[in-house]
Amino acid sequence: MEVIKTIKEMKEFSSQARRAGKTIAFVPTMGFFHDGHLSLMREGRRRCDLLIISLFVNPTQFGPNEDFKNYPRDFERDRKMAEEVGADVLFAPEASDMYPSNHQTIVRVEKVTQNLCGRSRPVHFQGVATVVLMLFEIVTPHAAIFGEKDYQQLVTIQQMVRDLHMRVEVVGMPTVREEDGLAMSSRNRYLLLEERKAALSLYRSLQKAKELLQKGERKAERILHEMKEIFQSEPLVKIDYVQICDAYSLQDVNQIEGDVVVALAAYLGKTRLIDNLIFHAL
Ligand code: PAJ
Repeated sequence: MEVIKTIKEMKEFSSQARRAGKTIAFVPTMGFFHDGHLSLMREGRRRCDLLIISLFVNPTQFGPNEDFKNYPRDFERDRKMAEEVGADVLFAPEASDMYPSNHQTIVRVEKVTQNLCGRSRPVHFQGVATVVLMLFEIVTPHAAIFGEKDYQQLVTIQQMVRDLHMRVEVVGMPTVREEDGLAMSSRNRYLLLEERKAALSLYRSLQKAKELLQKGERKAERILHEMKEIFQSEPLVKIDYVQICDAYSLQDVNQIEGDVVVALAAYLGKTRLIDNLIFHAL
């Protein structure tokens, strides 16, 4: 596996690969890999001739009081894991190369970024869309793999790719969980023991929602009420939002029909975790 640190070299590599007729799968990440990241990488490996992974903790998607500085980083560990998964390139650019001092362009996807996480993280999705567009331009992938764990991010990227007529297939992969059900996240490592235990209530509440949906409950309000009861029994959990939305527009629904996402975000101490459940109502 090659480690590439400059945009220039990455562009040269991808141009050459394309000229040689190779297909490129791409997995953008911020590193500190876990099995969730690895499942995307394996899917990329399976789909294309070449697998390129980017590792870049993107400053523009963090708000002023968020965890950019403390975001977990371990380059050597990530390098080994990417190599073991069979990646061809680990692309790890410098922030000063990605955002030179005169950088002025941002990509804003309008409607799907307003609700859910967009309410409490107003600049987050424009930071994500901007960096993902830059990475797509540098890596020129045929397929790019994203996790459903960050469901609003996946929908935002799909919207951007459609709106800008980009030539990349966006692939979503199911959320990978710890044995007890907690969604894997690089941020789980911040959790203290008691917070880790309390965090399980996020998953339990989604399981409750699933059970109710499977029994035929179609009133969003009733499902949300039962979910909130589960959090109320956990004083360490401070809910940011819990909502049921149309899976494509990400607008709230009252009466559930078609494809919906039950999405939540919560603080455990200073750590913000998100999780969701995608449900296809008949
Ligand atoms: P990061 O949080 O490192 O996540 C990289 C990819 O891994 C994302 O597509 C995310 O949805 C996926 N992922 C994270 N946890 C997962 C899990 N438990 N199961 C399955 N997939 C999971 O998301 C980002 O980085 C950044 O916003 C990025 C897209 C790289 C732009 O900076």
